[in-house]
Amino acid sequence: MDTTPIYSAIKKYVNQHNCRFHMPGHIGGQGLTAELQSFAQLDVTEVPAIDDLHMPQGAILEARKLLAKAYKATNSLFLVNGATSGIHTLFLSLNASAYVLIPRNAHRSFYGGLVLSGAWPVYYQPQIESNLNIALSVLPGEIEEQLKYFPQAEAIFVTNPTYYGTTSEIGAIAKLTSEGDQLLYVDEAHGGHFPFHSAFPKPSLDCGADAVVNGLHKNLPVLNQGAALHGGPKAPWEKIEKGFSLITTTSPSFPILASLDLSRELMMNSGTSLLEKGLNLSKHYKIKINSIKGLKCLDKELLSFPGVKGLDPLKVLVSIEGLELNGYELAHLLRVEHNIQVELAEEKIILAMMSLFHRAEDWEKLYKALQSIASKYSSTCTRKKSVDLPPLPYVLLSPRQAYFAPKRRIKLGDCKDKIAGEMVAVYPPGIPCLLPGELISPAIFDYLQYLKRSKIPLQGVTDLELNYISIIEP
Ligand SMILES: Cc1ncc(COP(=O)(O)O)c(C=O)c1O
Repeated sequence: MDTTPIYSAIKKYVNQHNCRFHMPGHIGGQGLTAELQSFAQLDVTEVPAIDDLHMPQGAILEARKLLAKAYKATNSLFLVNGATSGIHTLFLSLNASAYVLIPRNAHRSFYGGLVLSGAWPVYYQPQIESNLNIALSVLPGEIEEQLKYFPQAEAIFVTNPTYYGTTSEIGAIAKLTSEGDQLLYVDEAHGGHFPFHSAFPKPSLDCGADAVVNGLHKNLPVLNQGAALHGGPKAPWEKIEKGFSLITTTSPSFPILASLDLSRELMMNSGTSLLEKGLNLSKHYKIKINSIKGLKCLDKELLSFPGVKGLDPLKVLVSIEGLELNGYELAHLLRVEHNIQVELAEEKIILAMMSLFHRAEDWEKLYKALQSIASKYSSTCTRKKSVDLPPLPYVLLSPRQAYFAPKRRIKLGDCKDKIAGEMVAVYPPGIPCLLPGELISPAIFDYLQYLKRSKIPLQGVTDLELNYISIIEP
């Protein structure tokens, strides 16, 4: 049996040295720079020898079965436009104007799903660690409560793990949704490596989720944009496939597909040992980083937080409260003085995302750089609390209605009590604090002023400096 059907089909085609009278226009790399040329060899198209992503009958169908087996799914799909396209697909599997429970820490791709499908969001608040102002878990009790008010909700979305690596009690939430006949959809964008080592959090599908999306390029050796959507026995698979085909290009990237195929095989054969190495390095270096005055790797603190069930050991969340720098300043120094780029910086934390391919030297480099910076900037004064995240919004128009509504630009200072016409999302992690169609309440107005003052990088806004904002006239 061929264990990497997509990769093998492409290689066979390439090795035949066919005259390519078909797309793409670089016909195997011509006109591209030398570094892109070897990569472009695999950049073929949907010729019969290779298979069609929309109607798979050969290599892609075989590879999908292998993918489903690796993830213990009933069905799986390859995605070539990131986890975002998986989230959009899940929204398109619901009825038009469905009510959907969504955590307020959902990634901005949810907004796209809401606009495309016309669904109405019912936001719930995840559990927020109030000192650092980060969302860490979802309490099953919160979902139970929401379902009392919105029993008609068709689907419940959970982000699991969070951007910070914490997971929630998906099993308990799945029990609630199966009793009430709702679908449990999980944004598991950051958890595509979980099935391959038992010391990592349990995958959501194993806990009873009906469908999950993995942004496999985030954690595995997969080219950017490579992702997957997996369904369990209760997932409305025909609708999912229909939605997927609607939003997916007819010219998928075969290098991305090949990398997904190869990565799945690698993880099935060597995933446990690769993750074991990462786990050991994580344990070792978290202790070392904790020995640096002023820094603390958050680990036990996260695991003892209400509703947190597990933690991805490869997410290294460092509290920097004992330094006189904030997270943005520390990340900047790491970048300019040590050539280290971390995944995320916030007021009181930095987040380093470790891959299963980082070697001891890489972890050591991070440790040494942190040690060197901390020795220059240690502080004993207590920091003031970060600005609170805004409360749940009043949704006055559905995201789809708001998307198509006429907008007007006004000064930020004049936007209180108006209806937002644009998204405001801090990036990274890309979690919106305001979406079109929502009321700009006094609390959200204050938060926008804080974002403007702090010059935090934003997405979705029409004016990056937030001097102006778009609104919708009622
Ligand atoms: C939780 C979460 N969901 C979805 C996405 C979207 O993933 P992608 O960039 O693969 O489209 C991201 C991206 O950062 C994310 O963090």
